[in-house]
Amino acid sequence: MPTTTISKIADHVGKEVRLSGWVAGQRSSGKIRFILLRDGTGTIQCVVSRTDVGDEMFERCQDAAQESSVRIDGTVREDARSPIGFELSVSSVEIIQVADGYPIGRKEHGEAFLLDHRHLWLRSSRQQAILRIRDAFVFAIREFLHERGFLCLDTPILTPNAVEGTTTLFETEYFGETAYLAQSGQLYNEATAMAFRNVYCFGPTFRAEKSKTRRHLTEFWMVEPEMAFADLDECMSVMEEFIVATVERVVARCAAELEILERDVEPLKRVQSPFPRVHYRDAARRLRELGLPFEEGNDFGAPDETELSAEYDRPFFVHHYPASVKAFYMKRDPDDESASLSVDLLAPEGYGEIVGGGQREDDLDLLESRIREHELPMSAFGWYLDLRRFGSVPHSGFGLGVERTLTWLCGLDHLRETIPFPRMIHRHWP
Ligand code: 4AD
Ligand code: MG
Repeated sequence: MPTTTISKIADHVGKEVRLSGWVAGQRSSGKIRFILLRDGTGTIQCVVSRTDVGDEMFERCQDAAQESSVRIDGTVREDARSPIGFELSVSSVEIIQVADGYPIGRKEHGEAFLLDHRHLWLRSSRQQAILRIRDAFVFAIREFLHERGFLCLDTPILTPNAVEGTTTLFETEYFGETAYLAQSGQLYNEATAMAFRNVYCFGPTFRAEKSKTRRHLTEFWMVEPEMAFADLDECMSVMEEFIVATVERVVARCAAELEILERDVEPLKRVQSPFPRVHYRDAARRLRELGLPFEEGNDFGAPDETELSAEYDRPFFVHHYPASVKAFYMKRDPDDESASLSVDLLAPEGYGEIVGGGQREDDLDLLESRIREHELPMSAFGWYLDLRRFGSVPHSGFGLGVERTLTWLCGLDHLRETIPFPRMIHRHWP
């Protein structure tokens, strides 16, 4: 008997196959029992008839409570009423293991309960849809960067210094010295970019975020492209093409998953070039016009970003933030020393910042003075300064937060469901 999976069931119409999976639910009406089988690739209704399988097997099926593991043989039939277009006419059911008292049922559970049971919650259809979209997005990211000639050169996680400020560092003992979990791979990207031109790293990054918000994880995944010879404008153009291409591919490839999430895809279809490019100064003025108590010179808070992002029907850039609110490596605007050649990309529909980047300081003396101003340990940056000693060039890059972007793509109100096992201030289990 050929074994197959639900995703390939259309190849077996009229034939007998063996499926293996877990019981998502079952109900019976007299002589017929309907087992909903989930096999990790999809879900199919299996119809067990007492006359076909005999009394003993028919009765035994009752033991296969929710999430019991089973092997089911049967004939594939087309069925117009089925969401997948097929059902299985069962000839035999083998129970591998009876699941006793599966804790997640059809009733509503609280968020804390579900997060405590994240290892099981992953099996529910909503979580499956979100994590399939995650996979499709990650694939589209790698595909786009590969097509554009970017080399994936991953950067270390154990690092000797801060990148994005010293307040969110996770510190660990490293054979008698101190190491920090990487907040960003950017500084190392700058080194590989000087060797390979266009590069990216893609990995987990860590921030000891003390705030409990809908937008912060302590461990999140970031893809960070870096480009030698690119200025801020070119950087924005690549960010834009990157977002347009990856969102388009996810929308095209994940129609079924987005439907499970009841995500309105119209706003995602409007993710087309060109994206508005808004100067920080104009964004600040707009916030004041909207009546927000925003002080020019500050960074935007989440409520400011939400207000701004409700103004546009597609992602938009805010560029030239005050240098004082950005990291030490940002190049200054040659026409205005107080402004940096930085850029954030904000998602529409109130989701706020999903990408941060900009042009890097490429002058040795200026970079040295910034490291001093930020009171960072010069000794840890010796190698980084070398990049300005030996063939320094204008260069730019950005980092996209995978979970923040997925929260928007999936239309969720919290980012915790976009990663298999979220890490937040009050949670690092299961
Ligand atoms: O704006 P950030 O801090 O930029 C950097 O780390 C740069 N070094 C990237 C670069 O230019 N190579 O972070 C980039 C993105 C944010 O826009 C956001 O999407 C995400 O990373 N991010 C977080 N996502 C979840 N939880 C957190 N605590 C995050 N902090 C940043
Ligand atoms: Mg940022």
